[in-house]
Amino acid sequence: MKSNGYDRKADDLGNIVGLEHVNITIPDQSTAVTFYVLGLGLTRDPYMNVGLNNMWVNVGGQQFHLPTRGTQKIPGYIGLVLSDLEALKRRLATVEPDLKGARFKWREAADHVAVTGPWGNRFRCHAPGPEFGDMTIGMPYVEFLTRPGTARSIGKFYKTVLQAPVVYKAGSARVKVGRNQSLIFTETDGRIPKFDGHHIAIYIANHSRAHEFLLRRDLIMEESNAHQYRFKDIVDPTTGEKAFELEHEVRSLYHPMVGRIMVNRNAGQTQRNYMPGQDAYYP
Ligand SMILES: [Fe+2]
Repeated sequence: MKSNGYDRKADDLGNIVGLEHVNITIPDQSTAVTFYVLGLGLTRDPYMNVGLNNMWVNVGGQQFHLPTRGTQKIPGYIGLVLSDLEALKRRLATVEPDLKGARFKWREAADHVAVTGPWGNRFRCHAPGPEFGDMTIGMPYVEFLTRPGTARSIGKFYKTVLQAPVVYKAGSARVKVGRNQSLIFTETDGRIPKFDGHHIAIYIANHSRAHEFLLRRDLIMEESNAHQYRFKDIVDPTTGEKAFELEHEVRSLYHPMVGRIMVNRNAGQTQRNYMPGQDAYYP
């Protein structure tokens, strides 16, 4: 059979079909609005968690979940694709005075805008490009820093338990977790903070297979409901040794929120330059 030169593996997904949200607690919602909505230009979910206890912030088809209770930090980098980096830089400069005293800072890097949030989370904001497929706004990756010698075990876990395609480079494992989405685990000699309870949510196609593996090893931390469970220990599937901690909210494709349409606004709209009919942004 001829392939006509197409790389058929390029479109392969494993059992994980999408990374949907990153949940990090925040100590103060008004500062979070300034940073995530005004600075990054993202959109507060208008339907869910609209009060002061929690805020969902949409970035294309993904979300940040930001419950108001203390500070959590991803030990690494959250990758974002934003359609217009020039506009982003203007917005970041605009919020600087309001975020004075917080850990907020930003700078232009080689292929992205590097942003540190008010409580130390680090973001890499990229322009759309071939490495992100057709994503014009979204969360293409989260990169976690991990102990030396663990990337291979972490990769083996995702390959074995969730059948995810994994690409290894020296000291790192890139796990495909959806169309144009990855989790990256990069080894570092630097200090890695103790796991603080942040979580990610993924959708998986085969809900029982990973569950069986995790249940057998007593790794299920919560049986949330019929369509969701949680685990946090990433273990080497051969030795059982813990390689990393990251809470996963695992949802099946029968979860009621699967395929939920996320509202995204056109962050370029202003009263001064208002464009009728252009309020929404369709990723
Ligand atoms: Fe969650």
